[in-house]
Amino acid sequence: MALDPRQHAAAVDPQLMGQGMDTAVVAVDPAWFQFPAAPTEPTSGNDPLAHLDAAPVITNPVGRAALERAAHHLVAESQVISMPTETVYGLAGNALDARGVARIFAAKQRPSDNPLIVHVASLAMLRALLPGGEIPKSHVPLMQRFWPGPLTLLFPAAPGVLPPTVTAGQPTVAVRFPAHPVARALIAVAGVPLAAPSANSSGRPSPTLAEHVKTDLSGRIPLILDAGQCDCGLESTVVAVTPNPVVLRPGGVTVETLRGVPGFERIVCHSGHVEASAVPEAPGMKYRHYSPTAPVHLLLQPTAGAVREQIEAIRGDSNLTAVVGWVRTVDTVAADAWLEAAVQSGSVLAFDAREDPNRELFRALRWLDERGVAGIVVEGTPEEHLGRAFMNRVKKAASVVVS
Ligand code: TXA
Ligand code: MG
Repeated sequence: MALDPRQHAAAVDPQLMGQGMDTAVVAVDPAWFQFPAAPTEPTSGNDPLAHLDAAPVITNPVGRAALERAAHHLVAESQVISMPTETVYGLAGNALDARGVARIFAAKQRPSDNPLIVHVASLAMLRALLPGGEIPKSHVPLMQRFWPGPLTLLFPAAPGVLPPTVTAGQPTVAVRFPAHPVARALIAVAGVPLAAPSANSSGRPSPTLAEHVKTDLSGRIPLILDAGQCDCGLESTVVAVTPNPVVLRPGGVTVETLRGVPGFERIVCHSGHVEASAVPEAPGMKYRHYSPTAPVHLLLQPTAGAVREQIEAIRGDSNLTAVVGWVRTVDTVAADAWLEAAVQSGSVLAFDAREDPNRELFRALRWLDERGVAGIVVEGTPEEHLGRAFMNRVKKAASVVVS
């Protein structure tokens, strides 16, 4: 059974939660921040990770001022702010500062047993987190191929570097090197690694637009950097790089792509069925997630008939005129006279996510929820390639799964 994270969040000090604060939204253009490849020393000409040491070139003074303001909140004030990433908006705090980390948990009311991802923007920043400063050889092929990008890797954590709250007492630390120019430049300007979960309140769909962050966290954080809609739309892939490597959370880097990397041919995806009582491998997996207020009905076999049936099931016997949401992901459900008429009349609100279901899922759930629909029917996709991440998130959001 999935737990409601709000019931498991520790009683929170209102001062830590930052209630009553003014939240500024500052627009930043990713094109203002560039990362020219680092010049390679003659001796390190073959360093497979040299590209990760590029320093940002900031071409716009408004962009520089925005990052300096954000960095001041993070480093001088131990505050938390929201930054765009290529996956979803993050709620960032200085990962080395216990007070900043406590504010992350407080602002989103996150259960304290769910560890955070630490975001870095240079190899030196990564090494500082690892025992003896050593990057394990096993991790290098994945870092070389997928960093910067939507892939989070578990590393052994050096004792005493991070506040224990970051890793929730795990011996490992989850690290990501984001590709989004704003996130990457902000980490470089702040000069510290940033712990950042998704910037939603715990249990809600992750934010893919700055306005989603505002809805959830306005008044609790001083600043949101707005760079428009996130490209991936779902969170990063999380991989435990063990002798038998495991994908703990499917995401933007697919299992099929990972299997193409020498040494990772047999990587498997964790089933995601973790008992609440067990000590899970990715502690976040046991919590109910990504849920709008309206119940979500997921169709494993999306046909026009199945969509109609679930619309009727949501209405039940007593709510025959209720407006129902419909998230479209497949073309096959297009031509149906009953559905077309329902959409025309406004009794069914359709959100067309067919072009890129992953990018649009969380936006669709929030958009329909804001319109007060009685329930949301989501067309499932095949559980392979990018569809694996899509189905993983919808299954966690769903109260009904129709096979
Ligand atoms: O794309 C992303 O990863 C976004 C952006 C903001 O970077 N961040 C994100 O963070 O999704 P969050 O906190 O919502 O999800 C982190 C996941 C959780 O499922 C957590 O349990 C798992 O990573 N995790 C973190 N540290 C871990 C560790 N040491 N061992 C196992 N799982 C860990
Ligand atoms: Mg999250």
